[in-house]
Amino acid sequence: MDKDFAEKMAAAELSDSERVLELLFSYMPKIAAERKMDGLLVLMADLGRSLVQADRCSLWLIDSETNELWTKVAHGVDQLRIPIGAGFVGYSVKSGENLLVEDAYKDPRFDRRSDERTHYRTTSVMTVPLRDGSGKVMGVYQAINKKGESAVFSKQDLERLVLTAVYSAKTIESARLTEELQKSKEELEATQEELIHILGDISESRSHETGDHIRRVAEISYKLALYYGLPQAEANKIRLAAPMHDLGKVSIPDAVLNKPGRFTDEEFAKMKSHAGEGEQILMQSKRELLRFAATLAGSHHERWDGKGYPRGLKGEEIPLAGRICAVADVLDALASPRCYKPAWPEEKVREEFVKQRGAQFQPELVDVLLEHWDEMFDSFRQIRAEMEALRQAAAV
Ligand SMILES: [Fe+2]
Ligand SMILES: [Fe+2]
Repeated sequence: MDKDFAEKMAAAELSDSERVLELLFSYMPKIAAERKMDGLLVLMADLGRSLVQADRCSLWLIDSETNELWTKVAHGVDQLRIPIGAGFVGYSVKSGENLLVEDAYKDPRFDRRSDERTHYRTTSVMTVPLRDGSGKVMGVYQAINKKGESAVFSKQDLERLVLTAVYSAKTIESARLTEELQKSKEELEATQEELIHILGDISESRSHETGDHIRRVAEISYKLALYYGLPQAEANKIRLAAPMHDLGKVSIPDAVLNKPGRFTDEEFAKMKSHAGEGEQILMQSKRELLRFAATLAGSHHERWDGKGYPRGLKGEEIPLAGRICAVADVLDALASPRCYKPAWPEEKVREEFVKQRGAQFQPELVDVLLEHWDEMFDSFRQIRAEMEALRQAAAV
């Protein structure tokens, strides 16, 4: 070989390896940071395309439920789906083999329908199966039309695509695992939340006119918690636990719970027992959230001045969630009609809080409430209206 030519080749080789390394280094962090499957497919298709200098590259995955192969295409086009056995991609899935094709139109395995649909002219093609940890084919890498003079893919291109396929398969597998874990976590949380509301609804359904009291108390407690300065996670916990604050009412007889007139001492004592009862029921759980709800249920009728029940706790002896829920609970009780009273007008409710600042309620919490009064009262009104609309729609 002439010396000059050999040197040129070595230089070209070096710069090509450098280019590959540079590509890998620029894509790795992007791929590692991408959490969504769609995004991953696009990134890996881009990496494959640049690596082998193809005009197009896509990563097809098997959807075993529909027996199709699907891919995410960049540039605004959504998903593409093809039957699992179609074309070169289908061949690679079935046979598990790599394909290196110089002229697609001379190959009987070519499915020219996609060219017809997209007004494209496929010439050279490479396909490489993607295998999961157990060696099973999970998808296929496909590169179409080599750019540059040669216009055909080389063995080296194929090797590079094979390596990228190994790396991509591992990335996709771990992304799937993360997605599944995330889904089951979300499912569990949603179930828990639903159960909490069902529990709350059961206690609420016993007393006829408090409709949606628990939803409003949960929402107002959440807002109060945030404005009071609690971290988001704590506020979320309060929002989730608050619907159970009156759970203990399940043990109160109907005649007492829905009595329109004044209570006798005995009835009042029975009514007051709901705080302790709810706490006891919920405390039986080992779940942190339900135990937190137990504390909230057991303390939402304590008063800042120590004259509340069931324990007569005073000031900061009262758990904060209970102090917060007490404010939201009374706001909703006063502003809503009850069997023993009509709804109070907004101004009168506000005056009551000013009066009870430092007596029934922690002063700072009343300050927070008054400072955000319009927003709090609006959300009270809004939930009321939403639930009313839902009821009317259900009645039609
Ligand atoms: Fe209560
Ligand atoms: Fe309540």
